[in-house]
Amino acid sequence: MLQQTVFLLALVAQGLTLENGLLRTPPMGWLAWERFRCNIHCDEDPKNCISERLFMEMADRLAQDGWRDLGYVYLNIDDCWIGGRDDKGRLVPDSKRFPRGIAFLADYVTPPLGLRGSLILSLEPLWYILDPQAHSLGLKLGIYEDMGNMTCMGFPGTTLDTVELDAQTFAGWKVDMLKMDGCFSTSEERAQGYPKMSAALNATGRPIAFSCSWPAYEGGLPPKVNYTLLANICNLWRNYDDIQDSWNSVLSILDWFVKHQDILQPLAGPGHWNDPDMLLIGNFGLSFEESRSQMALWTMLAAPLFMSTDLRTITPQNMDILQNPLMIKINQDPLGIQGRRIYEDEYQIEVYKRPLTNEASALVFFSRRTDMPYHFHTSLAKLNFPRAKVYDAQNIFSGEIISGLWSENNFTVVINPSGVVMWYLNPVKNMDISETMYQL
Ligand code: GLA
Repeated sequence: MLQQTVFLLALVAQGLTLENGLLRTPPMGWLAWERFRCNIHCDEDPKNCISERLFMEMADRLAQDGWRDLGYVYLNIDDCWIGGRDDKGRLVPDSKRFPRGIAFLADYVTPPLGLRGSLILSLEPLWYILDPQAHSLGLKLGIYEDMGNMTCMGFPGTTLDTVELDAQTFAGWKVDMLKMDGCFSTSEERAQGYPKMSAALNATGRPIAFSCSWPAYEGGLPPKVNYTLLANICNLWRNYDDIQDSWNSVLSILDWFVKHQDILQPLAGPGHWNDPDMLLIGNFGLSFEESRSQMALWTMLAAPLFMSTDLRTITPQNMDILQNPLMIKINQDPLGIQGRRIYEDEYQIEVYKRPLTNEASALVFFSRRTDMPYHFHTSLAKLNFPRAKVYDAQNIFSGEIISGLWSENNFTVVINPSGVVMWYLNPVKNMDISETMYQL
């Protein structure tokens, strides 16, 4: 015990422990990169270029179209916002595209107290009062930098000597999350820089969630990646390649996460998450079935749910996928246990399971087939659920409930090509019979 305390104190003393208490469940929100990339051509494309207008319009949509109230609270800037450094070395945004600065954007969702009239105050959402971290639109602002000489798109990066200054700048702007990329640096610089930035964020006194791309730059696996250290300094981390707007890209990421699930699955938990990258739903590359599949599979992986789509034009069908309350409840389960693939067969059917609070669990039946809906016959016992138990199973997409399903009952799910069937399973209390009775 004493030894443990001393060890913990030593970590704290070195500034290695992220004490921000944030992200007890995976973060949810919107991130600019996958959909809007580094479009800096505001003259030609004012609606879609990386600019304060884009972020303000997305903030409005998040607040007004039900997203925020479901938990999608982070509005995150990605690459291509930086204009340079001022004469004191402080980062400044591009003055044409962010003429009012990043603090203004934070203020757009957090008007300074002095400017709030009593009317506005009285209209403030109750949960803003309950959560002092939240801004008045109820959103939180995230920003992007790179631990290296330049960001991946060539904008000024954070070097070892500017870590503290940049952390203070972000805190001064009232930023709530930092995604720290890893382009244009050596392994040694990253090994120093990420822990240093974590400590510098802590030292600002402002709780700032820390998203680290570090592992993705070191191949994502031990021994090159020290996940014990990462869980102490980062709230989430990108382990693998960037997602692109295609089903192939989703599958390649899923394959990598499943291949290494014995290593990756135990790492996730409240305050520290694996990040398989953004959701593509609402963009151009995924069909309806594939969109549902990405949502379901990312939920099973306890992944951050960062949308990256145009919320001004998203279709009701895609909104339904992203706003499914039971799906979100599963993603946000307080135990924070990442799911695993528990079954695969030669017919290209896979089953994923995620344990949830109150002995509930989620199951995803996933088909990689490309021919026609597949009738998959199984039972919970065949999927290694305990024998002689009874469950209620709710279909996440149709809402349909199967009551009184015994572990041994055979059932059939019909899974569309590239699609999923997803269940929320609740044990029915006091219905168990003893093994002996069952065998009679
Ligand atoms: C890297 C990251 C992406 C994105 C781009 C921006 O590729 O992995 O998520 O931030 O940089 O340039």
